[in-house]
Amino acid sequence: MPIRTDPDRRLVALDTDATTYAFAVDPAGLLRHLYWGPRLDRLADVEAPALWEVSTNDSVAEITHEEYPIHGGLRFKETALAVRFEDGSRGARLVVTGIAVDAEAQEVVVALLDAPRGLTVQVHYRVLPGLDLIERWAVVRNEPSEAGREAGVIAVTAAASAQFHVPRAGLTLRNVFGHWGAEQQPFTQQVGPAALVLESRRGISSHHHNPYVVLDADASEDAGEVWCAALAWSGNFRATVAQTPYGDTLVQLGLNPWDAEVTLAPGESLTTPRVVAGYTAQGLTGISHHLHAYGHGLLDPRPRPVLYNSWEATGFEVDLEGQLALAQRAAGIGVELFVMDDGWFGRRSSIDDGLGDWWVDPGAFPDGLGPLIAQVHELGMDFGLWVEPEMVNPASDLYAKHPDWIYRDQVHDPDTARGQYVLDLTRPEVQEHLFAVLDLLLRENDIAYLKWDANRPMSAVGAHRDAHRAHIEALYTLVTRLKGTHPGVMIEACASGGGRIDLGALGVFDDVWTSDNTDAADRLVMQRAYSLIYPAKAMRAWITESPNFLSQRSIPLDFRARSAMMGTLGVGTDLMRADDAELKALAAHIATYKRLRPTIQDGRVYRLDNETGNDYQFTGYVREDRGQALLFAFLQASRVGHRKPTVRLRGLDPAATYRYAVNGVPHEHSGAYLMGHGVPLWLMGDYDSALVEFDRT
Ligand code: DGJ
Repeated sequence: MPIRTDPDRRLVALDTDATTYAFAVDPAGLLRHLYWGPRLDRLADVEAPALWEVSTNDSVAEITHEEYPIHGGLRFKETALAVRFEDGSRGARLVVTGIAVDAEAQEVVVALLDAPRGLTVQVHYRVLPGLDLIERWAVVRNEPSEAGREAGVIAVTAAASAQFHVPRAGLTLRNVFGHWGAEQQPFTQQVGPAALVLESRRGISSHHHNPYVVLDADASEDAGEVWCAALAWSGNFRATVAQTPYGDTLVQLGLNPWDAEVTLAPGESLTTPRVVAGYTAQGLTGISHHLHAYGHGLLDPRPRPVLYNSWEATGFEVDLEGQLALAQRAAGIGVELFVMDDGWFGRRSSIDDGLGDWWVDPGAFPDGLGPLIAQVHELGMDFGLWVEPEMVNPASDLYAKHPDWIYRDQVHDPDTARGQYVLDLTRPEVQEHLFAVLDLLLRENDIAYLKWDANRPMSAVGAHRDAHRAHIEALYTLVTRLKGTHPGVMIEACASGGGRIDLGALGVFDDVWTSDNTDAADRLVMQRAYSLIYPAKAMRAWITESPNFLSQRSIPLDFRARSAMMGTLGVGTDLMRADDAELKALAAHIATYKRLRPTIQDGRVYRLDNETGNDYQFTGYVREDRGQALLFAFLQASRVGHRKPTVRLRGLDPAATYRYAVNGVPHEHSGAYLMGHGVPLWLMGDYDSALVEFDRT
């Protein structure tokens, strides 16, 4: 049973295969955190020693590790919830009124109440035993009947999904930072007494930080304690991490209270996004594997097709003839899905016009998309299309008709970014309109894949204090409705590159565009950081031209191809400029990818050690049921004293024997040898790479 209770002590333990998470209600009615770590079979071990104030400045409420504290009383710490009542007061007092266990759903709901105010909170827990993870979220409700009188509105000014307590100090925080074209740059930072804050304020989740917290105590890839919490949310988030003065580390993760307020009329409630959290003693790879398994559970299990995308080749200059020519070449190299990017609709000729007008540009496609799609199908490929539904250009029919449909205040001119405005998705008529046009597009055209872009942040949301949250809820509703009406259509989440890489996107979309930076060497850094949390199956990566448009770096095709093959492969090269030799080489890489796809997309990923001090990156993919392992090896630049690396694999069956070839020379070794001793490789010069296949005999 993954949920154990001790009714006398009002204590609950959530057990996964290898972990236990425990909390209890203390005599004052506080929901008190007690334990998060390795699995404990003896429930009596979990104690709730009596707490007394450290001093008159350190109250019991302040020092208690609460699961979901609310602002009010003698609390000065980070609180998960803050509200304002109609009379202007902000203080609330929540006490636990009940604990409900749903054994079948593996859920626990703790009910808390501020009786005089009619404010109720449900703290939800769901146990995922096989994944060694728990989910948490909260429901905040204005329940006037509980107050026994007519209550007014309650303004929720902050509502995190959860608060956690990690029973250690001196931990290392891991996350990523960056900006457009430089997403997913990994960093570590020592957690100390000053709080660390990671957040997004732009209405999307993730160019600048990512909505998760990973904390470790000197963990390596394969050993050491790691705690993680990741938020399933594609919009504004805030994560706070701080060592408390009382020796543990507090983590809070949820909606960003910045420029936000949710008003609850009597009877109304707010449900926060889910946060998924876990502990492992198996190091960083251990936590990644749990989260990847969780991610796979969110994703459509179908294999992701090898796609061609027109953006880097044709930009806004799309027309029937040009796209047909590209499609012919794409089919010739083995592409399975031809995606026409920006430029096909309205009067679109640059960033400054057309968004909002999702009718086919008759100048570029005189007979609509039908002839192109028919040809693409005849060539044996599916057809995909780029859209940016949340946006509108001032120069568009849609804006001319509905200037009031955008976020803006009533006094100042609305902000343009990339020449566009953001549509107010929280308005039902906007949602209906977008559903209708996208539904029509999918009904009239045989489209298997949409790339859903969003190229600017939200700003000036006017009087709508809940816009940032409600926009993302509306986005999820719209995408889910569209997919429900057109089952089988896959949708890629893109937001100016990697602006929507999060578990919320994975729950609704089918893959994510990792970055507009398609430089293969830069991508190796991003992809490795991405792999800490997210599965390779959702990570779109294209082979693009050399020199790269952004970095101006020249990298050989094998390196570029192998870098892109580590996720869901795409091609973005201008195939019209490729000579026969390049087309042949691309075809060979695509054929290899298709053969190895089950291992890459659905296997386990191992970030292998580089013990050489040189610029290597090694990554392993293991698919046990296929008896297959892969080693992706990259050498960016040789340095003085360059020596041959020996790469130790991980995740193999030590007792099995594997066949493999390095530089065409066949070898056979046991898993034990390959993991204990390793595989000698010989990469030379700059931008050398290898892909080694290991097959169990
Ligand atoms: C930003 C995306 O990240 C690109 O891949 C491309 O689709 C452009 N938008 C098109 O405008």
